[in-house]
Amino acid sequence: MNIVILGSGTGSNAGAILESWRQGRLGKAVPVAIFSDKPQARILTLGEKYGVRAEYVDPGRFRTKLDDEAEQRYVDAIRAAGADLVVLAGFMRVLHDTLLNAFPMKIINLHPSLLPAFPGLHSIKQAYDYGAKYSGCTVHWVTAGLDMGPIIDQSAVRIEDGDTLDSLEAKVHAAEHALLPTVLAKLAG
Ligand code: GRF
Repeated sequence: MNIVILGSGTGSNAGAILESWRQGRLGKAVPVAIFSDKPQARILTLGEKYGVRAEYVDPGRFRTKLDDEAEQRYVDAIRAAGADLVVLAGFMRVLHDTLLNAFPMKIINLHPSLLPAFPGLHSIKQAYDYGAKYSGCTVHWVTAGLDMGPIIDQSAVRIEDGDTLDSLEAKVHAAEHALLPTVLAKLAG
């Protein structure tokens, strides 16, 4: 199962996927490319470390979505890489029809809360500020509704009285780094 990873930032989850792969813990899943909408994103530096193609793909003129031409550029790049599955690992743009229709039920997203609680941005802070006693992370299929597609798996973390936003973020990210590679290995069969 060839996977293409899309990300905009540090790529710690992409790193977790690639490290699991290096250690032979990703089953039949094989990362074949990393694409980013940010030319300087740290996620792109992982390509060289793990010997995986890593490229900037021009996102077009908008800030939080891709325009139609840009979506088509992503479709072409993902197809050319031979992807069976697309993994959104911190890709900070909402996908629309061109991409969604090109890969129906073949795109998964990682979200840092126990969906359907706290969708959207700053979800860890939302859970912390709300006073939730549990939060965690979710891997779900990507559909047209933001953070609303069918849930594949989740991992919960307890929010202790002594937790700070920083310590909660660290817990959630650790849960993400464990969950996402596990889901990929299972999906690959
Ligand atoms: C993760 O918390 C993920 O849930 C969210 O964006 C963050 C990406 O972090 N969608 P990283 O770039 O993988 O370090």
